[in-house]
Amino acid sequence: MRTLIFGAKGQLGRQLQKVFSTAGEVHVADLPEADIRDDQSIQPLFERVSPELVINAAAYTDVEGAEDNLKDAFLVNETGARNVAELAAHHRVPVIYFSTDFVFDGSKDTPYLPEDPVAPLSIYGRSKAAGEQATRRANSLHFILRTAWLYGPGGNNFVEKILRAAAERDHLQVVEDEIGSPTHALDLAEAAFYLSRTKKYGVYHAVNSGAVSRCDFARAIVNAAELNTRIEACDASVYPTKAPRPTYGVLDGAALERATGQKMRPWKEALIDYLQNREENA
Ligand SMILES: NC(=O)c1ccc[n+]([C@@H]2O[C@H](COP(=O)([O-])OP(=O)(O)OC[C@H]3O[C@@H](n4cnc5c(N)ncnc54)[C@H](OP(=O)(O)O)[C@@H]3O)[C@@H](O)[C@H]2O)c1
Repeated sequence: MRTLIFGAKGQLGRQLQKVFSTAGEVHVADLPEADIRDDQSIQPLFERVSPELVINAAAYTDVEGAEDNLKDAFLVNETGARNVAELAAHHRVPVIYFSTDFVFDGSKDTPYLPEDPVAPLSIYGRSKAAGEQATRRANSLHFILRTAWLYGPGGNNFVEKILRAAAERDHLQVVEDEIGSPTHALDLAEAAFYLSRTKKYGVYHAVNSGAVSRCDFARAIVNAAELNTRIEACDASVYPTKAPRPTYGVLDGAALERATGQKMRPWKEALIDYLQNREENA
């Protein structure tokens, strides 16, 4: 299988390269050469590579920045998604698009299902919901995988931020009124791989199983890394943000599990694995 990956240098893109290259040829594309906002800039790649599968892991992921840069967020997350999906459709091949729990408003108190209506609170969430729709409309052969609280080697993610802060401080305040599904980028890449081997197109939730508050996630990170930093619970008002976040963003992965026959491992197991292999994967 010949796979073309956009956003290949990103946190997820790197893991996608690793996983998909075990089963075929992988061609990678990223800024500055391949800008998904501009279909003319990426079209030659399609001609040259003639991919059998296209993965769009390129995104505008600065959630706070998006509040001041609506145009940029939509240009990458919506227009870019449409460009990639349309070119894949033109070549009659499937496309994978990644989305987020931020397409939901967090008002549920049970895990979100793929078919639940979206109601994004932030510009980033709106731009990703628009990207999902653009991908669906442009290419019937689509897999849309919503994930959450993603961390992986080379990323500036929550796990790395807590490790950095904990190395310098003996206590940290972390919000407890935000519940989600932390997800190892390697596990997400593997889930995308298994799903891509089916023809079960549609929208899926791909997260490590279980749910946790930001505060308890930080405690698990510090404990697993054997640091002595004390984690104190606080509410979200201690860290005001421009972009409103869903207080409850837990995603239900059952549909993905049915489609692939593979269950994503519990978040704590994935975290421990990440921390144990962090040095060699950096
Ligand atoms: N990170 C999370 O917690 C999280 C949570 C839920 C969902 N997701 C979704 O998961 C996917 C992967 O996220 P990630 O954490 O791997 O993001 P990331 O590390 O920020 O990687 C995104 C990649 O896309 C590239 N990119 C940005 N604009 C581009 C453009 N116009 N054309 C081509 N490439 C462009 C970036 O390049 P530069 O670095 O040079 O800008 C970067 O290499 C995204 O769809 C994101 O929305 C992420």
